[in-house]
Amino acid sequence: MNWEWSFIYSHPLWMVSTLILAIIVRAQRKASWNPRACPVKLNGKTAIVTGANTGIGKFIALDFARRGARVILACRNEARGNAAVQEIRESTGSQNVHLRLLDTSSLDSVRKFVAQILEEEKELHILVNNAGASGLPSKITADGLEITFATNHVGPFLLTSLLLDLLKKSAPARIVNVSSMNHWRGEVNFDHFRGQNLKHVMDATYNHTKLHNIIWTNELARKLQGTGVTANSLHPGVVMTDVMRNYNFIVRFLFNLVGFFFFKTSEEGAFSPLYCAVSEEAEGITGKYFDSDCSLVLPAPPARDSALAVKEYEFCERLTAKP
Ligand SMILES: *[C@@H]1O[C@H](CO)[C@@H](O)[C@H](O)[C@H]1NC(C)=O
Ligand SMILES: *[C@@H]1O[C@H](CO)[C@@H](O)[C@H](O)[C@H]1NC(C)=O
Repeated sequence: MNWEWSFIYSHPLWMVSTLILAIIVRAQRKASWNPRACPVKLNGKTAIVTGANTGIGKFIALDFARRGARVILACRNEARGNAAVQEIRESTGSQNVHLRLLDTSSLDSVRKFVAQILEEEKELHILVNNAGASGLPSKITADGLEITFATNHVGPFLLTSLLLDLLKKSAPARIVNVSSMNHWRGEVNFDHFRGQNLKHVMDATYNHTKLHNIIWTNELARKLQGTGVTANSLHPGVVMTDVMRNYNFIVRFLFNLVGFFFFKTSEEGAFSPLYCAVSEEAEGITGKYFDSDCSLVLPAPPARDSALAVKEYEFCERLTAKP
């Protein structure tokens, strides 16, 4: 036995206090809002969750189905989307769970998706913009946009814009945007949208798009004042999700190894989106940013700049205007 161990064994107080500390840390994690303890029912309500075939999105959709909502999973991949629908139907017993195809990286796909929704749905009460990608090889889409910007920001912008009238008609309604703490490392440069002046170092583009998500949400919330539709954004926590699927094996291996000890599960990552989407506590709150413990926090300075938000909103309107 070396001396450190003998030191600890000879001082049981050390062991006891370490144990108590660990219990306090666990209890703190549990202290945040938990969807399982939230009694809100969503019978008669309709919700759309983008990127719902896996990870956080799937848990959000599952929770909505459990509460009795009509849930539309908006996914890019038909086979994986159908598998998620089946899984949610089986585990909740609800048959009111459906797949509609949506690829947020394509403005054309967004328009087709919305046309179908407007034809089929009379009401829409919750829209969760969850779909997002990081680590994509850089590419310019058919719309002339950088692909991560298209997927994470411009597509969701158009989607939300085209669904606004339906949301307003169904008020009270809530829009929830899954951003990320990574937005603190993001920068605003409108050239980025077209893939210009972007440095392709790890996560840079993702970080920029997550900053734009919050800036946009702020302006949207301002525009929606008085309509009964709220818009908030949040950080889901550092979650082990499929977002890493585009990285190579080594990066994914290291991510999983670290994640095993420190990260949240996808189910826990769904807590703050669900807090914004269903909780009584978040009712009426709009234009805010929440952290992964469901507490209201300030985002980075550019995400609090209302003049920039107006500029950004108009810029995205021009980008998504019908040709
Ligand atoms: C993106 O954000 C993450 C998390 O804050 C950070 O670790 C990473 O270095 C950032 N990437 C760049 C290029 O700033
Ligand atoms: C977040 O919400 C705003 C409007 O509320 C939207 O313009 C933006 O694209 C959203 N971001 C994501 C990731 O959906």
